[in-house]
Amino acid sequence: MLPNKVSIFEVGARDGLQNEVPVSSNAKVQLIENLADAGINRIEAGSFVSPKWVPQMADSSEVIKSITRKQGVKYSALTPNLKGFELALDAGVDEVAIFGAASQSFSQKNINCSIEESIERFIPLMEKAKSLNIPVRGYVSCVLGCPYEGDIDVAEVARVSAILYNMGCYEISLGDTIGVGTPVKARRMVETVAKQVPVDKLALHFHDTYGQALANILACLETGVSVIDASVAGLGGCPYAKGASGNLATEDVVYMLNGMGIETGIDLTKLAKAGHAISQVLGRANGSKVANALL
Ligand code: HMG
Ligand code: MG
Repeated sequence: MLPNKVSIFEVGARDGLQNEVPVSSNAKVQLIENLADAGINRIEAGSFVSPKWVPQMADSSEVIKSITRKQGVKYSALTPNLKGFELALDAGVDEVAIFGAASQSFSQKNINCSIEESIERFIPLMEKAKSLNIPVRGYVSCVLGCPYEGDIDVAEVARVSAILYNMGCYEISLGDTIGVGTPVKARRMVETVAKQVPVDKLALHFHDTYGQALANILACLETGVSVIDASVAGLGGCPYAKGASGNLATEDVVYMLNGMGIETGIDLTKLAKAGHAISQVLGRANGSKVANALL
């Protein structure tokens, strides 16, 4: 059965801008404020990772501290370890996200350790977050394929998802990092994970490299999942997944949901304008078909 409402988790300012040419902190703040103004209430605003690995996110602290906060909006950031967690808290985030993978090779390339080592690193972060009542989201990358290993066993996706959930992550975001999934496989993957993690604790984080993300989301919505990660203007990719393009454009998924009578609480015109503005700053074409049709 399809959900009545979908919660959009906007990742453009992080997943998007981490893989674009660097933009000023001011432009990031403007983007984040425009997204909130369009009615988005869950915004990933930055990433506290090594600035040597991802220089585009090096100003996350400054960005998060400079946002004029909108009431009811949760501002989040990626934190791979305790150091990142402490920096994120100091910047004033409402919640954080840890990120693991269902592929050993991707884990090594992305965070320089094995899946097991990453879990060990997350333990002190989770303990600290619990003691401070900070919600932690958990990402699992490569759920429908890996740029280094190819196909990934869905049992491994379910295993890693369950570990993160049982460690205390309030939601598990399933990342098709390189956008290779197709609808039937995507749905089976979600159904398999949902045997170990309640379906209402799952989110879809689908990159649109092969143009399949919208179809994959539609197939998965029927499993009961109702949280979708998306990136305004289809910004971005992943620096450790060569050839990956951005997440599905938020405008495109909101347009589809509107047409299906599924509520998101988002003003599509304002959202499309936010995407246009950041695309202009980047000097790139807007990656949202809907935004290009609307504006
Ligand atoms: P490491 O080299 O194994 O860690 O990197 P380390 O603890 O040995 O530290 C090395 C250096 O990094 C040290 O500095 C640390 O201080 C510093 P140095 O002594 O060389 O000057 N450092 C930090 N600096 C700032 N913030 C921190 C931090 N931690 C250590 N938190 C590490 C391990 C995880 C840090 C590194 O591999 C890294 O930063 N990786 C970046 C990964 C990344 O950001 N990838 C993109 C995001 S994930 C993604 O896009 C996928 C997702 O969207 C889902 C999907 O699509 O599938 C989420
Ligand atoms: Mg991603």
